[in-house]
Amino acid sequence: MCSISAFLNPYMMTPHLQEARNASLRSKVTVVGSGNWGSVAAKLVASNTLRSTSFHDEVRMWVFEETLPSGEKLTDVINGTNENVKYLPGIKLGKNVVADPDLENAVKDANMLVIVTPHQFVEGICKRLAGKIKTEAEAISLVKGMEVKVDGPRMMSTLISQQLGINCSVLMGANIANEIGQEKFSEATVGYRQNKGAAESWVQLFNTPYFNVTSVQDVEGVELCGTLKNVVAVAAGFVDGLEMGNNAKAAIMRIGLEEMKAFSKLLFPTVKDSTFFESCGVADLITTCLGGRNRGVAEAFAKSGGKRSFDELEQELLQGQKLQGVSTASDVYEVLSHRGWLELFPLFSLVHEICIGHLPPSAIVHQYNQRKLKGKSLGRL
Ligand SMILES: NC(=O)c1ccc[n+]([C@@H]2O[C@H](COP(=O)([O-])OP(=O)(O)OC[C@H]3O[C@@H](n4cnc5c(N)ncnc54)[C@H](O)[C@@H]3O)[C@@H](O)[C@H]2O)c1
Repeated sequence: MCSISAFLNPYMMTPHLQEARNASLRSKVTVVGSGNWGSVAAKLVASNTLRSTSFHDEVRMWVFEETLPSGEKLTDVINGTNENVKYLPGIKLGKNVVADPDLENAVKDANMLVIVTPHQFVEGICKRLAGKIKTEAEAISLVKGMEVKVDGPRMMSTLISQQLGINCSVLMGANIANEIGQEKFSEATVGYRQNKGAAESWVQLFNTPYFNVTSVQDVEGVELCGTLKNVVAVAAGFVDGLEMGNNAKAAIMRIGLEEMKAFSKLLFPTVKDSTFFESCGVADLITTCLGGRNRGVAEAFAKSGGKRSFDELEQELLQGQKLQGVSTASDVYEVLSHRGWLELFPLFSLVHEICIGHLPPSAIVHQYNQRKLKGKSLGRL
């Protein structure tokens, strides 16, 4: 038997007690989500929890359970093969990743929660978790997207913080999941609010020789970059589908970055200009406009002359993965029209009008100039 004072005072401890104390101080990590990026996130953090004494080795990964065409449960296959055969085939996640289909069980001991599901599911998941998370837990959101309510837009980190009653940072960057799964070099940005110590823990948890993570004190800036670039990627896909060439694509990326910055600063005046030069800003924009899924599906949409719906193309081309740019364009449009800002953001508004079939894909370039001339200038925002 040991006394409490011996447990608290390291100088009074036996090696056995010391070990027990150290174990009790280690953070337990749970990844909520197991899609393409969720699986890569689990792999990244699992390699670090094994290496560092700050964390428990095991990483729990909550899986939205599915039955595979073979009749097996996805969770069983992940735990049997150490691979997410549906969302990240061919990549070993690390033996210390344990897939768990029971959401409450997966999070019950966690003090570091990595939230990484498509944004449309975040609110429902948080509702199920409210009151079931350790009060001292910290969260980080890797989710790209926002929620629009009557009283305005709400970022995912805010939703998570409010619903779970815990602090939430964000991690965004030029991160096409499959490339990082293959351990190809990339960078990412952690955005934090006040808690620099928490940001440092997140950097320690995610940083690897092939995944360089830095932190900035600008949650909204980092999160809005990650969210809005998907709208620009849809515009880039239209330009690709119409074979308008590299100059047009570069122009779309430049205009998109300008609108991303202006929109973010109008909504949150604290957003920093420098954030747009981090991995979450210009680098993520470039990679998403060159290779991401939003670009790819928008290219197919433009090639069909806007005749095939995004829903149909998403199902055909993404096999269960989710498209973000089209719904984010709709959310952004709602904010713009509600606040009387449509004329300030010709690219963002055109993307939505094309997606819903009110304009042909070619309007992305042809109508842009007309609207720009008629509209107000973004000036120095
Ligand atoms: N894939 C990437 O390259 C990448 C990179 C950076 C960020 N992201 C962002 O990460 C987030 C997660 O994307 P992903 O790529 O991991 O997912 P994904 O699109 O690959 O997979 C979809 C996931 O949603 C799950 N799902 C389906 N229905 C559900 C439901 N009703 N409730 C809960 N979950 C359900 C599926 O099981 C699957 O795990 C998104 O916000 C995405 O924008 C993705």
